[in-house]
Amino acid sequence: MTIGIIGSGAIGTAFARTLSRAGVEATISNSRGPESLKDLVRELGPSIKAGTREEAARADIVFVAVNWTKLRAAMAHLPDWKGRIVIDANNPIEAPLFKPADLGGRVSSAVFADLVPGARVVKAFNHLRAELLATDPNSDGGRRVLFYSGDDTAAKAEIAALIERLGFAGIDLGPLRVGGKLAQFPGGPLPNQNLIKIS
Ligand SMILES: NC(=O)c1ccc[n+]([C@@H]2O[C@H](COP(=O)([O-])OP(=O)(O)OC[C@H]3O[C@@H](n4cnc5c(N)ncnc54)[C@H](OP(=O)(O)O)[C@@H]3O)[C@@H](O)[C@H]2O)c1
Repeated sequence: MTIGIIGSGAIGTAFARTLSRAGVEATISNSRGPESLKDLVRELGPSIKAGTREEAARADIVFVAVNWTKLRAAMAHLPDWKGRIVIDANNPIEAPLFKPADLGGRVSSAVFADLVPGARVVKAFNHLRAELLATDPNSDGGRRVLFYSGDDTAAKAEIAALIERLGFAGIDLGPLRVGGKLAQFPGGPLPNQNLIKIS
């Protein structure tokens, strides 16, 4: 299983850090190219390498964390998704105005899914601030909770396994129209809830 990351900002880097901590390999990318990521990957450790957006997009699991208004360009002209898994870690709002995007009444993951036709979209890794996502998930005698949702059961099972491998406690919120809404920021009740599962 290969992992690619599109977006090397706060959330893309936080995800890469959790992978690196667990020794999981991945290719991270941004809009400026691998040269711009040299220092970052050196700091992240040997399991994370820098690549182009196209290289990252070829992975079995592609993690996307890009500013909402730049998503369309970031997902354009990529190879066919052909059922590969895409993790939507994005939220429909961005600095500096923090004005919620107009989604036409849809769940943001449904809008995102239109940008990656043929991919199996799983919403995950979007409900915590980047600083918290990057820290050790073992906390207060338990494991930090990450929510995930999606319409493809097998894809969700793969992301659930990855979440567990990274040391988090995963909770399945159901299909995108339900779970995506619960975990969506702004609007859902779950963003920024730093929950620990004791078991
Ligand atoms: N920050 C948080 O705490 C947080 C928490 C939960 C969810 N989120 C969501 O996660 C997403 C990313 O947020 P962030 O805070 O990580 O943003 P960020 O720090 O501004 O990073 C955005 C990244 O997107 C990349 N990007 C922009 N256009 C691109 C393109 N055309 N092709 C490839 N990469 C492109 C940028 O690369 P360049 O710099 O090279 O342009 C940058 O690495 C947003 O949707 C946000 O709502 C953020």
